[in-house]
Amino acid sequence: MKDWTFGNINTPLKVLFSSYLIVVGIGYMMAFTQILFTHGMADGKIGLSVDDIVYSYYGNRNGSMIENKLNGSMKENASEEERFKIIKWVREGADESSFNTTVKPIFDNTCIMCHNAESGLVDFTIFENIKKASATDSGASFAVLTRVSHIHLFGIAFIFMFVGLIFSFSTTGPTWLKATAIAMPYVSQVLDIASWWLTKFDPMFAWLVLFGGTGMAIAFAFMWIVSMYEMWIKKPS
Ligand code: HEC
Repeated sequence: MKDWTFGNINTPLKVLFSSYLIVVGIGYMMAFTQILFTHGMADGKIGLSVDDIVYSYYGNRNGSMIENKLNGSMKENASEEERFKIIKWVREGADESSFNTTVKPIFDNTCIMCHNAESGLVDFTIFENIKKASATDSGASFAVLTRVSHIHLFGIAFIFMFVGLIFSFSTTGPTWLKATAIAMPYVSQVLDIASWWLTKFDPMFAWLVLFGGTGMAIAFAFMWIVSMYEMWIKKPS
């Protein structure tokens, strides 16, 4: 068998590899955009910061989830006046009897269209859920963390199986560098997820989340660019 290099594979296989890399690359950008609009907005300011990570996982324990979201990623979903009324109601104890007279119409008009039983988001047609969101914000719940952790571990291991496999055909750089680039997403991933859990207990671990995510992005970009370059631009020697 010939060497396991891009120089020795035929064009159809290169087209398959490249198509996969392009689609996964778009997926990566979408995932990043989504992170910017959810976690990125957690502190109410655009852009991802350590504060965002702390608010997302440890919570903003000065206030309730509803209040924090209404000042963050949910800000655009209600008018100034509606937000004020909801926040006032939450601060006054989130009482069920005053709910029906004061804030229920706001929820019905501005929140329920997204927050209902079908959407997969927190269902605000059920008062209990609004009550829960009115309690102190202690960040992502254990249920959410476990779900997101296992989805990420399986999904990302699978994506990097193929990105790494394709990249292993490259001949740029020494073996140690290739091996490092291939292992890095896996190491970063475990670090990233471990740090979500650590941040849940102590906000000082928030920077580790950024570190893990950055490591993964760098490894992805490096393997993507080298693979594409060797397949289509580099002259065969
Ligand atoms: C356009 C759709 C949409 C509308 C309208 C909307 N939301 Fe949301 N909401 C979302 C999405 C998507 C998320 C999850 C992402 C996030 O947390 O930013 C979310 C998350 C939340 C959360 C966090 C729930 C949790 O436990 O993580 C709260 C609280 C919330 N919304 C409150 C509200 C309130 C109050 C309103 C009405 C004023 C509202 N939302 C209107 C889409 C919407």
